[in-house]
Amino acid sequence: PGLHSLFVASGKLFFGTATDTNLFNDIPYMTIANNSNEFGIRVPENSQKWQPTEPTENKFVFANPDQVALTSKANRQLLRCHTLTWHSQLPEFVQTTNWTRATLTAAIQTHISNVVGHFKGQCYSWDVVNEALNENGTFRNDVFFQVLGTDFIPISFAAAAAADPAAKLYYNDFNLETSRAKADGAARIVQLLQDAKVRIDGLGFQAHLDVGRTPNQTALAATLDRFTALGLEVAYTELDIAHAKLPATATALQQQARDYVSVVGSCLAVARCVGVVVWEFTDKYSWIPSTFPGKGDACLFDANFTRKPAYSSVSSFL
Ligand code: XIL
Repeated sequence: PGLHSLFVASGKLFFGTATDTNLFNDIPYMTIANNSNEFGIRVPENSQKWQPTEPTENKFVFANPDQVALTSKANRQLLRCHTLTWHSQLPEFVQTTNWTRATLTAAIQTHISNVVGHFKGQCYSWDVVNEALNENGTFRNDVFFQVLGTDFIPISFAAAAAADPAAKLYYNDFNLETSRAKADGAARIVQLLQDAKVRIDGLGFQAHLDVGRTPNQTALAATLDRFTALGLEVAYTELDIAHAKLPATATALQQQARDYVSVVGSCLAVARCVGVVVWEFTDKYSWIPSTFPGKGDACLFDANFTRKPAYSSVSSFL
């Protein structure tokens, strides 16, 4: 039946994947990515970020993310939109301009109103602010924080809310699953927005995890529940579970399967967990090996599109 169909039958909104136009000519890949029983939502892995959408100030480029949006629509899949205010994959001008509070505020507002406005009505959700926290829960000292302090957060969410009132607005980060201090920081971000009466709808748990070091279902569910208690929905937005020793042994593949089931199971256990998105479904295109040399094989399908034990375990668990 496919993971999305099974997840929907369990009362969830979506099971989906990251994908992007650079992969759209790989036919075996696309056959799986386009299968709406398998994946009910997709997210552009790169093409909707600040650098590709506004490479030079006030000049917007949407050809690639438009394609991603079009293919989701053609396959009756939802679209998660990703991402607006993030320290990484920024265009040159954001990093080099000598900003004042007023000029950076305007630049953020211009970026967000144009990008969110362009996709208005097409996004289930937007990752409005991505990865604003250090591992110890303090704020990352990026250009936004240096110029605006924490104000860049309500500025970003307010601009997104104005540009697409129907899209769910998320704060998205990694290691919230494993670091209590960082989850505390995310809770402070939610509080800061709620105190300012600026809308935030969801907390995105990236879930870039490691085989054998993934918390169990109960611990994961408890972390999700912290945020549903604040009135938010939650989702796993970039799930992958990497092996540190390659090639993975049969034993390690079984551990990876159990870890995937813990994550998916924790979403099932929390009513306001709306779904799970994997950060690519095949080891052929995972970002892990190039970013974390020595690590890899983090996905549900291997590089030849064969379903791994993790796929079978999640499927039979659902
Ligand atoms: C990654 C992409 O997968 C890579 O292709 C790219 O080179 C760098 O970005 N957190 C995020 C994602 O929010 O946007 C990142 O995606 C992975 C970490």
